[in-house]
Amino acid sequence: MYRMYQKKREEHESILILLESKIYQGSLILVNQNHPIQAPMSSKKLRSVFPEQPQIQMEQESAGMLKKLLQEIQGEQKAKKEPVRKEVQGKIVGVSGYRTREEQVQIFENSLTENGRAFTEKYVAFPDCSEHQTGLAMDLAEHRPEIDFICPEFPYDGICQSFRERAAEFGFVERYQEEKQSVTGIGAEPWHFRYVGIPHGELMQEQGMALEEYIEWLKQFDLEENPLKIKRGETEFQIGYVRAQGKYTRWKMPKRETAFSSAENGNFKRERTIKISGNNVDGFVITMITTEAEGRKHETEKKLWGH
Ligand code: DAL
Ligand code: ZN
Repeated sequence: MYRMYQKKREEHESILILLESKIYQGSLILVNQNHPIQAPMSSKKLRSVFPEQPQIQMEQESAGMLKKLLQEIQGEQKAKKEPVRKEVQGKIVGVSGYRTREEQVQIFENSLTENGRAFTEKYVAFPDCSEHQTGLAMDLAEHRPEIDFICPEFPYDGICQSFRERAAEFGFVERYQEEKQSVTGIGAEPWHFRYVGIPHGELMQEQGMALEEYIEWLKQFDLEENPLKIKRGETEFQIGYVRAQGKYTRWKMPKRETAFSSAENGNFKRERTIKISGNNVDGFVITMITTEAEGRKHETEKKLWGH
């Protein structure tokens, strides 16, 4: 159903046709009360994150990155031999990952009965307006004997804070921050993490932006005339926005540089990955990732749709 058509023009130039349905998929989709989910998540792409909680799942790329991040944090903690409070045991557990629409309806209705409308609308998204239905969000808790399902404890210290400090590096953001309540329409949720991908988590953090603001801000960049360029080690990211033009949007991929510029002896390999995500509003965010490394001279190119 979601096919990508690609036509070779010349050796290094091609046109991609971005289908309208793709506006509603990918790791950068903005989902909130004004922008409900349009495309249901495929259950084939769901993966578990916590070995002891296989029922808590996420979209596969986000699940993989969350696992890496947790391993990293837990490894660091062991290395530092941090004293941990006995009841906490330095452990982060999952509370809620992917939810079906029916589950979100149930959670919303139960909360209305138990907690009333004001609390519910502050902490539970309306059905189809929840990031949990995308598979890109995960609620986390510090391991304690009692964990509140709607508002779990994920404090700003200990292992939870270590997690928070490294999250952006792995493409995650703390989605509902206190000072952004008027932008997101949701109360502060220190436990709700959203996968947006690399390098977007770090960019959002640097810019101090909620996803609503970031999606708007990205619209000033386009890959041909005015790309957003950043470098992290050997990897260069170029980011641009493409506004959707009806059912089919033609997008001319920028030419690849033919010369191996940084290679004095020619023994460099260059890999380019193009990731395309819809914004769930009106277009696409394209992230070109180019990595150069020493090695046998060759070039590769991959195109990946968000999920
Ligand atoms: N707690 C968040 C807002 C949700 O229900 O998606
Ligand atoms: Zn949540």
